[in-house]
Amino acid sequence: MEMKTPAYSRTIMTEIVLPNDANALNNLRGGKILHWMDIASAIAAGKHAQAVVVTVSVDQVSFENPIKIGDVVTIEAKVTRSFNSSIETYIEVWAENLPSQNKYKCNTAYYTFVALDSNGRPKKIAPVQPESEEEQKQFEGALKRREIRLILAGRIKATEAESLKSLFETN
Ligand SMILES: CC(C)(COP(=O)(O)OP(=O)(O)OC[C@H]1O[C@@H](n2cnc3c(N)ncnc32)[C@H](O)[C@@H]1OP(=O)(O)O)[C@@H](O)C(=O)NCCC(=O)NCCS
Repeated sequence: MEMKTPAYSRTIMTEIVLPNDANALNNLRGGKILHWMDIASAIAAGKHAQAVVVTVSVDQVSFENPIKIGDVVTIEAKVTRSFNSSIETYIEVWAENLPSQNKYKCNTAYYTFVALDSNGRPKKIAPVQPESEEEQKQFEGALKRREIRLILAGRIKATEAESLKSLFETN
């Protein structure tokens, strides 16, 4: 059966930082933001895959600004590309202090998921169809990021990485 390409998948999640989410400096704990990013991106990946997904890799997490208690946090996750059973997502986190309306960028990251079938085995999923220039850029970069991930995880050799080959050629 031919697989239908789903519409470009993204999720926006909004939270407020409560005292229980904070560290001793009254800022949001790093672990909590990683958790929120995992939830938002798993939903985006699951919508694309139309399946249960599990997190397989977390990369390039940046912590650019601390987030204060009481500020509102917006986590936006987008699917950048899917391969066979894996799906890469890009996440951006912004915070806002409501009284002052000051908005500030806090985090970015790439989370990768694997779609599973009812037996818990990796499941083939539909490709992503990028539309905007930004989506196209993320789509193209996703192949290089995937190969770097698989090299670091010891799953492929650097010489097997098609899109990175020129970096490792010695002559
Ligand atoms: C994800 C999991 C099912 C993959 O099983 P596996 O036997 O390695 O399966 P495969 O070798 O067929 O790999 C499946 C996909 O995962 C990708 N993958 C595996 N390890 C990876 C890694 N470290 N980084 C990026 N992708 C990875 C493979 O490239 C493959 O992608 P593709 O199908 O798009 O080509 C298994 O590793 C697992 O269950 N991990 C634990 C997941 C988990 O518990 N997450 C936390 C809770 S949600």
